[in-house]
Amino acid sequence: MLLERIMRLAGTSIPEQLEKPQGWIGRFITTRWLDRGNAALYQFCLQLMEARPEQEILEVGFGSGRSLGMLATTGARVCGVDFSPDMIRKATRINRAQVRAGRIRVELAGVSALPYPDSTFDSVLTTNTIYFWPDPARDSLELLRVLKPGARLFLGYRPKEILEKIPVLDNRFRLYTHDDVRSLFDRHGATTQIRERAEPTGFDSYCAIVQKAG
Ligand SMILES: C[S@@+](CC[C@H](N)C(=O)[O-])C[C@H]1O[C@@H](n2cnc3c(N)ncnc32)[C@H](O)[C@@H]1O
Repeated sequence: MLLERIMRLAGTSIPEQLEKPQGWIGRFITTRWLDRGNAALYQFCLQLMEARPEQEILEVGFGSGRSLGMLATTGARVCGVDFSPDMIRKATRINRAQVRAGRIRVELAGVSALPYPDSTFDSVLTTNTIYFWPDPARDSLELLRVLKPGARLFLGYRPKEILEKIPVLDNRFRLYTHDDVRSLFDRHGATTQIRERAEPTGFDSYCAIVQKAG
């Protein structure tokens, strides 16, 4: 595959870039590929979120940051964290006007230590990051911590049975069945509903809607 060859020549690999897009490859190639491949999943999650102007929303692991821009068009105040400095730069650049206006704020941080007080957000969005969480039991709790009581996390992902058929993915990816996702959050007293949408590409979209206890 051409992409695999380009990555190898640049001293990186597809799984490494998917976990942490960085360098010129990350800024110009990986993010374009992610934006194209995950557009339907984003749209599905955003549609389920029904963001409103008075809301505070956090996205964790935003990649290029295009989704931050889409969220900001709803009028909501949007915060984003990503642990790749190159993604912080890219998201700031492509959302320059909204960042300047204070409608989007991005910070360099990991999912394990979110730089916000308890009960800050009306909704949290994260797509295609769960595979890379360093400590899923604690990181799921950290995401719930920053949600207001009764508020919801929208977690976009593809389940194990789909991803295990993709040969380029390696053991950097932790794969989850739908039941794995449910039990990760339900042990913290949250309730999880999995929603699914068939896509014309055949690469279907899944979103776990996790409601923090009220
Ligand atoms: C596969 S990309 C997904 C990007 C985008 N959300 C999408 O669905 O196309 C994973 C993103 O999450 C970020 N990421 C991975 N692990 C992270 C962590 N532990 N904390 C914060 N961000 C993380 C990466 O830098 C990257 O931007």
